[in-house]
Amino acid sequence: MKIAPLAAVAGLGLTLVLAGLSFADDDDHHERKGYKRPKRLAVPSDAPLVWKEECAACHMLYSPGLLPADAWREQMRTLGDHYGSNAALDPVQEKEILDFLVRASAANRLPVEPSPTVGEQPRISQTRWFERKHDEVSEAKFKRESVGGRANCVACHRDAESGDFDEDRVKIPR
Ligand code: HEC
Ligand code: HEC
Repeated sequence: MKIAPLAAVAGLGLTLVLAGLSFADDDDHHERKGYKRPKRLAVPSDAPLVWKEECAACHMLYSPGLLPADAWREQMRTLGDHYGSNAALDPVQEKEILDFLVRASAANRLPVEPSPTVGEQPRISQTRWFERKHDEVSEAKFKRESVGGRANCVACHRDAESGDFDEDRVKIPR
């Protein structure tokens, strides 16, 4: 009478191990087929200085992995009218930045989601992915002066510029 439950427990353990394995497989599968944006969108260590300087002149530096390559292409093609600002650079610098963004975001295979505002470039902060990740954050919190809007990730994710969005390190300022 004692053996049966033990066997059941052992059996359950084995099932869990197997389930664990099949999940790992599943993740790998997804990585190859589609793309799940990871919590850590690490910025490659060989990121060019021109990107770090020019693309953080007016706002925080956005990790390349946050948008798919085609969205970055669109951003870089339209810098002369960049959300109402002129962010154009000389063609050599623009090409260096574009080549970097396309290479560094290669793993992001999500489709480009156009901004809901007509004529505007795609936004990270308006994607369905962003909405899903922030279903617990109220509009009022994003609007706080200390936050400065949903695009200012770094207000709440302190290490956002190095690609760290782990929710264990999130802190919404008062
Ligand atoms: C002259 C100032 C300026 C420069 C330089 C600039 N930007 Fe911007 N950028 C803006 C403004 C203004 C917005 C819109 C901010 C808002 O409405 O919240 C913006 C928004 C963005 C967004 C969308 C953020 C969101 O809401 O998801 C991305 C992505 C972006 N910029 C990328 C870049 C890149 C890449 C570069 C470098 C090539 C760059 N920016 C350089 C002014 C600038
Ligand atoms: C008002 C503060 C705030 C701003 C601004 C903000 N976030 Fe967040 N973010 C949070 C909070 C809080 C959570 C976790 C709570 C939840 O699930 O709704 C979160 C969760 C996330 C997650 C999921 C992390 C995990 O461990 O699963 C990602 C990824 C993320 N944010 C990316 C961004 C990006 C990219 C931006 C800027 C374009 C941004 N966030 C702007 C507060 C913020």
